[in-house]
Amino acid sequence: MDDIHIPLSSPDITDAEIDAVVDVLRTRHLSLGPKIPEFENAFRRYLGVEEAVAVSSGTAGLHCALLAMGIGPGDEVITSPFSFVASANVIKMVGATPVFVDIESSTLNMDAAKAAKAITPRTKAILGVEAFGNPNGMHEMVMLAASHEIPLLEDACEGLGSSHKRRKVGTFGRAGVFGFYPNKQITTGEGGIIVTDDRKIADLCRSFRNQGRDPNGSWLSHARLGYNYRLSDINAAMGIVQMQRLDDIVTARQRVAHEYISQLLDEPRLILPTIDDETVMSWFVFVVRLTSEFDAADRDAILAYLKNHHIGCSNYFPPIHLQPFYVADHGFKRGDFPITEYVADRTIALPFHNRLSHMEIERVVHHLRQALEQRLSAKAA
Ligand SMILES: Cc1ncc(COP(=O)(O)O)c(C=O)c1O
Repeated sequence: MDDIHIPLSSPDITDAEIDAVVDVLRTRHLSLGPKIPEFENAFRRYLGVEEAVAVSSGTAGLHCALLAMGIGPGDEVITSPFSFVASANVIKMVGATPVFVDIESSTLNMDAAKAAKAITPRTKAILGVEAFGNPNGMHEMVMLAASHEIPLLEDACEGLGSSHKRRKVGTFGRAGVFGFYPNKQITTGEGGIIVTDDRKIADLCRSFRNQGRDPNGSWLSHARLGYNYRLSDINAAMGIVQMQRLDDIVTARQRVAHEYISQLLDEPRLILPTIDDETVMSWFVFVVRLTSEFDAADRDAILAYLKNHHIGCSNYFPPIHLQPFYVADHGFKRGDFPITEYVADRTIALPFHNRLSHMEIERVVHHLRQALEQRLSAKAA
C-alpha cells in the first residue's frame, strides 16, 4: 500500500469529457468552430460578465489583456512576488517593468498598504493574484486601482469558483484571466480565458489571439501584431463539460481540504491555510507552512522524505524575484521581499485532487508527521 504513488495533482476526467472530445473529432470543426463560443458563454453565465475570450493558456490570456490595456515599455505594473512565474513574465513580455510588492502573511496576497506606497507616476496597472485561490485582499486592490484611475488585471488562474464578500473571482478587475492546465480546478489540457465587461478589451483580445485579425476582417488581413493564442474546439469541448461539473468539483475539493484541516489541526509544527468567514474557497492546491523552528533546508528534507514515501509534493512557490532570470535582469536579492521569502522557504504543497480518499489523506498526514519528527530529532542531535 505504502509504495503506491499519491500524485500531487490529478485531473478529474469522466466519460462525459471523453465523449465530448470524441464528438468534436467526428466533425470538421477542430478549431474556430462552435465549441469556442459555447465554452465562452458558459463563463459569461457563470460569472455574469459581458465578454469572455478563450485562449490557449492562462499566460496567453494575461499577455493579451495587458496588451489590450495598452501597457508597454516605460510602464510599471504592480504585482506579487509570491506567485507562479507567469504572472510577472507577462509584464516583461509587453516590455513593462514588474514592481513587486511584498505579501501579507495570512492571505499570502499583496499587502494593500505596501502596494499603495509602490505606486509612482509610471504605474499603469495592478496585476493582482489570488494565491492558491484565496481572493482575500482583492477588494483592497479594486479600491487602490480605482483611486489611481488605473486598471486592475486579475490573475484569477488559481481561483475559479472562489468568492469574497459574494463577489466571484474573475469579476474584481477591469479584466480577469483563468488558466486550465491539468492541475487547475477545471482543465482543458491547456487553455485559458479572459473575462471582462469591457467590449474594447475583449475585441482587442480576440484580435491578439488570432494573429491580429479584426473580428470581422478577412483571413489574410492583419490589423495589428498578433499571436496564435487560439484554443481548439477539442480543448473547449472538454472545458464545457468541466464547467457543467464545476460546482461538484469545488465541493469535492472543499471536502479534501477540510479533511486535511481536521486531521492536521492539532499539529503544532504546521501553519494551516486560514480562510475568513467572508470567503468561499475553491481550493487550487493545499499548502501547509512550517513553523519558525524550521528553515528552507528542513522543508527540502521533508519534501524528500515524502517523495521517498511515494507522496507527491512541492515547494509552491519559490519567490519570483529570486528566480535566476529576475536576479540577472533586475538585480533582485534575498531580503528584498522578506515576508514572501520567509513564507516561500517553508511551504509544502500536499497531494490535492478531487478524488483523494480518506485513506490517502491519512497516509499523507502520517508520513508528514513522521517527517517533521525526524527533522526535529536530526536538528536536536
Ligand atoms: C497564478 C498563475 N498565473 C498564471 C498561470 C499561467 O497559466 P498557464 O499555465 O495556463 O499559462 C498560472 C498557472 O499555472 C498561475 O498559477
